[in-house]
Order: sequence, then structure tokens, then C-alpha cells
Amino acid sequence: MKITCRKKIAETFKKSALLIPVYKGINLSDEVVGEHLISAIEPILNGDDFIFEKGYTSSLFIELGNKMRRVYLVNVPKEPGEYREYMEIGYEFAKLIKKDRVSDFSVISLEDIYNDDKDLMHSKYFIEGVLAGSYQFLKYNTNPPSTTLEEIEIITSLPKQKKFVDQISSEILTTFENINILKDAVLTTSNELYPMSYAKMMEDMLPDNISMEVIANDELLNNKLECIYTVGKGSVNKPCLVKMHYQGAPNTKANIAIVGKGITFDTGGENIKSMASHMHFMKSDMTGAATMYAVIRSAAQLKLPVNIYAYLPLAENKVSSTSINPGDIITAASGKTIEIHNTDAEGRLVLADALFLATQTEPEVIIDIATLTGGVVVALGELMAGFFANRRFLAKSLEDTSFNISEDVWELPLYEHYEKHLKGTHADLQNIGLQTLSQGGTIFSALFLKQFVDNYPWIHLDIAGVGFTSSEHPWLGKGATGFGVRLLLEFIKKDYLQKQ
Ligand code: BES
Ligand code: MN
Ligand code: ZN
Repeated sequence: MKITCRKKIAETFKKSALLIPVYKGINLSDEVVGEHLISAIEPILNGDDFIFEKGYTSSLFIELGNKMRRVYLVNVPKEPGEYREYMEIGYEFAKLIKKDRVSDFSVISLEDIYNDDKDLMHSKYFIEGVLAGSYQFLKYNTNPPSTTLEEIEIITSLPKQKKFVDQISSEILTTFENINILKDAVLTTSNELYPMSYAKMMEDMLPDNISMEVIANDELLNNKLECIYTVGKGSVNKPCLVKMHYQGAPNTKANIAIVGKGITFDTGGENIKSMASHMHFMKSDMTGAATMYAVIRSAAQLKLPVNIYAYLPLAENKVSSTSINPGDIITAASGKTIEIHNTDAEGRLVLADALFLATQTEPEVIIDIATLTGGVVVALGELMAGFFANRRFLAKSLEDTSFNISEDVWELPLYEHYEKHLKGTHADLQNIGLQTLSQGGTIFSALFLKQFVDNYPWIHLDIAGVGFTSSEHPWLGKGATGFGVRLLLEFIKKDYLQKQ
């Protein structure tokens, strides 16, 4: 996949198709589009039958230089709108050309269309939408379609635009390479992707500037990681903790810690999931780990000046003669004892150990991401993540980044009056709040995690809804969405890069 930017007249395009952004009343310039093409499409745009409507695209064949060439007229907002609109347009366009088996295209830059080079970001979000929409998971398809997207060529008359696209294209491609690795892992089924095989897959793709350590099975107990061990002990596919370190700012000790829930399959354990819970979706319960792998891998490939520790607890939550019995009491890495009242609340257990480890490097911030509760889907639906933060400034900063990057989050409260319900009968803690699981379940899960982060600045994102969608997200897609990678990379870039 390539992203290029050229100064030329659109009608001389060489790619398989040309995209022209249009809106009602648009005045296309000869210099950008070319006389021939303008005389061919102006009557169409000025005719009564053309549909100027959001989301509508006209697909035409136009004679140019004695050949019939494919041209798409794509509706865009009349005035430069919010970035997400362009991501959505790019996403929809990618789906359309997938159907038309178009493997490369030229597009007249949005900034040329708006005749405005002050804000060049519309093109960036459009490209990101195209990359999101062109993802395909064909691993198990014995008869795969032949087209994949190979090139996006931006046509512009603006010198600034060319410089900008050349500058950002490698960064966008790196980020999406990693988002696609994430999606592949999430969609790969649990007979192939289980804790140790997943650790191996990550190692096989590890950039040289990340170091990785795996603490596997019995070693977990020697390292006092009993929560991770216990959640995974019911499966023949043994659990492990993957630790990664990227040192992009060797001159400082300052570091950040990232943690991702990696349950490679969640049956619920002895508290087995019901039919209604669509258990087959639970291959996606390692989305958090996949997200954080994508974040640290991108940061390392982009050589960001920041030190990152990643902790990815991997386990399969199964039912067998060796699995947890409800009521069992275990000791977490922090030393706190936990009564396991519900074996389906396993994510918070593996995170408890990982979060405690994360505190050990005295990080500036700990960020965790997890498909943690069905409750967050009830509260917010599938288009946004719920999040919690123990500092106001963190919440504010994440919200700002989230809006800019078009990955939506909504803050939920770490409501202290609920904390008492997490006290165990005979242990320090129990892993669920109230027996009526539908009351404030997402809040209880976050309050449980809070017990393990000491008082370090901390953000917890619950992506049970948006990480893996059953209906289509308008620009991140259906199924594995890759939500969180762009958000967290931008968040880190904004607030945590070290001066070199
Ligand atoms: N992995 C699930 C959460 C989940 C639910 C993710 C739906 C994606 C879609 C998690 O381990 C879980 O089972 N949570 C329980 C907790 C409850 C037993 C306290 C839940 O939310 O129902
Ligand atoms: Mn569960
Ligand atoms: Zn789970």
C-alpha cells in the first residue's frame, strides 16, 4: 500500500479511477480538474437528476483521451466540516471500490476542492477512513476476492499539501499496518490463537527496538502472579504474561505503562455464559492486549521519544476439572486477597496482577484497555468506549484527543460510595460488586481495578462495545474496529514525548 501526492491536472490521471469530491454549487477549477473533464461532468452536476446528499456517490464512465475512464463523484460537506465526516467518506468509498474491484485511485485533494490550504487535515482523515474501510480478513477464505487496495494518489495544486502528505503518509501507513495486525489477531479464532501461540505471533513480528519477556504458566506462580495463573488454569492452553519494553528516550527514567486484557477466549468459566451472550464473539476478548501491542509496536517503529512498558496478561477462561470454583480465594501480586464470586469477571483478575506490575516502574501514567463489561455496552452502545480516570487533567486530555481523532469516549465515575461492596466476606476483596450484576457493573469493575494502581495517574478504557462491533461503526467498521490505537498514540504524542 502506497500513499502518494502529485501536482497535476486530474483529467490526466493514470490510476484505475478518479474521485472528485463535490457539493451543490461547487465551482471546479480548470487548473486542478482540466477542461475536458469539466465539460463532461459540469452538465451532470448542473442537471436535475444529480443527487447532492450526504453519503451519496455517483459512479460514471467518462471518455478521456479516447478511453472510457472510471470517475466517482462523491458528496462532501459544502463547508469544511468535522474531521470524522471525512473519515466516514473515506471509509464508505473504500467499501465501494472494493465492490468495483478498483485497486488504486486518484483523488482531488479536499483542500483544493475547498480552495483552502490552512487546514490540511481533511485529506489525512479521508485517507485514514479509506485505510480503515479497505481492511479485509481473508485468512480462512478458500476463495478470496482478488482486489486489494494498492495506492491512493492525492492530486493537488497546493505546494503545502504535497509536503504535508509526504510527511504524514509513512506515519499513517505504520499506524494502519498495526491496526490491521490487531484486527487479524482479534479475528483469528481461538483454536489457533491461544496464550502461548499469541505470544509467539507477537514475538515473530517484534521490531528490534522492543524487548520482550514471557512469564509462562508455573513461572507465573513463582512471580506471585496468581490471578493470571488462576484464570488460565482451567485450560490446556496455558496462560502467560507478556512484558514488553520500548526505550525511545534513553536519557530519562520517565516512562509510561500500558496494559491490555488478553483473554484469548472467554467461556465465563464455571459461571458459564448463557446462549444469549453470543459466546462465539468471545474470541475477541483479547482485543485490549492486541490494541496495546499495536500501540507499542507503532511507537517503536515511529521511534517516538518515550519509554513504554507494556503488560499483556494472556489466558483462556475455560470450564474443566482444573478451573476456578466460585468462592475460591487467591492472592494477587499486590498481596491483596480476592474471593472469586463470579468466574466470568475474569478480566479484572488478570488486569489486577498486570496493573500492580505496571506501578513498579513509577510511571507517569498507567493506561489500560479491556473488553471488560457487558454493562458498558448497555450504557453507551457500540460506538464509544467508557472510560475512568483518577485525575481530572487526564480525563480532560483524553476527551480532547478523542474528539480530534474521531474515536469517541465517555467518562464514567469512580463513585467511591460503591467501593464498600467490593469487600470480600473472608478476603480483602471480591471480584464483583453486587449479586445483581446489572447494577453499575462497569463502575464496579473499574473500582476493582483501582485497588491495584496505588495512586498513580491512571486511565481505564472499557471497549467491550466499540472494540468489536456487531453492527457497523460508521468509520471503524464491523467486527474488529481497531479502536484505541490512533487515540492512544495521539494521546501519548500530545502529552508524554520526552525532549531529546
Ligand atoms: N469479556 C466479558 C465482557 C464482554 C461482554 C465483552 C460482552 C464483550 C461483549 C467479561 O469478561 C465479562 O464476562 N463480564 C461480565 C462481568 C460480570 C460477571 C460481573 C459482564 O459484564 O457481564
Ligand atoms: Mn468474562
Ligand atoms: Zn472477558
